[in-house]
Amino acid sequence: MAKEKTTKDRSYKIAVLGGDGTGPEVVREGLKVMDAAAKKTGFKYEKIMYDLGGERYKRTGEILPPSVLKELGTADAIYLGAIGHPEVKPGILEKGLLLALRFHFDQYINLRPVKLYPGVWSPVKDKTPEDIDFVVVRENTEGLYTGTGGILKEGTADEVAIQTSVNTRKGVERCLRYAFEYTKRRKKENKLTLVGKTNVLTYAWGLWERVFKELAGEYPGITTDYAHVDATCMWFIKNPEWFDVIVTDNIFGDIITDLGAMIQGGMGIAAGGNINPEGVSMFEPIGGSAPKYTGKNVINPLAAICAGGMLLDNLGEREASEMIEKAVMNVTANKLKSLAAGKMGYSTEEVGDLVVAAL
Ligand code: IPM
Ligand code: MN
Repeated sequence: MAKEKTTKDRSYKIAVLGGDGTGPEVVREGLKVMDAAAKKTGFKYEKIMYDLGGERYKRTGEILPPSVLKELGTADAIYLGAIGHPEVKPGILEKGLLLALRFHFDQYINLRPVKLYPGVWSPVKDKTPEDIDFVVVRENTEGLYTGTGGILKEGTADEVAIQTSVNTRKGVERCLRYAFEYTKRRKKENKLTLVGKTNVLTYAWGLWERVFKELAGEYPGITTDYAHVDATCMWFIKNPEWFDVIVTDNIFGDIITDLGAMIQGGMGIAAGGNINPEGVSMFEPIGGSAPKYTGKNVINPLAAICAGGMLLDNLGEREASEMIEKAVMNVTANKLKSLAAGKMGYSTEEVGDLVVAAL
């Protein structure tokens, strides 16, 4: 939710990173919709386009030049398409670009709504938009993602690989506090579920659970609950209506939000925000760069459009953000045959146009 601008002037600087594969195509549609929303609601924004990703890396060897990083720090928000290139070894761009940005800007929250829009087919039979409507608050700077660990005796029969989950009191507490505050502001069921693995990973989840209970005392209006991560996967399918807001660590959040994306209709609609409530936040469709669809004008831009809506909400442009979500719902309810690439009944560009028309 919003980081209100301190100044009253509603003009923003948005850094745009189309990235790899279909990223630039979906971001183009997202910007088209943001332009229309800006005209309707009266804010202004300047787009600064950055050419980063696999192609640039192959051409120049650069991933995230320090000068670019510095410039991004002056933006009001970052709008990202997708990262990942079939000809670049896995890990290089993901760690060098996506995770580097999340870490550099200390975007300690990854906010991922799981919401089934009207007219969207969910593989979970008999579940309706009323049943599937929750938000995952994923810790975004710690856990297994810090790169802590190492390898000994690589390539030998005695090889040892250690990958450590880092959980700091500060990191856990700020994430949990954000989740409590978010649940309060969401005003839906006022229920926050901690998702972890207290029965096995007792050090990490012991800390999470203790801080969770401590903070719960400060939020008497919020019902708290706990579920193991494996059971949560089961409930996502069987009883998704049990969830309002979920808070979890980095890796569990990564995993359960892919499942979440599927029950809400697929990667074509799933959006997320990498949020630093006190700094520069970054918004992206949660799917990948979809190399096989690149340049074909068949990929679904709705996830990127929804990410754009979240970005505007973060800037304090609540009206524009709500307008975009309503327009997307209108399009899913009345127009699209499917959310899958190539099966929408419309091209990527046409879907962008439909959303603009619905605004
Ligand atoms: C995501 C992605 C990333 C992650 C990868 C690409 C590093 O899967 O945003 O969920 O693991 O966080
Ligand atoms: Mn993921």
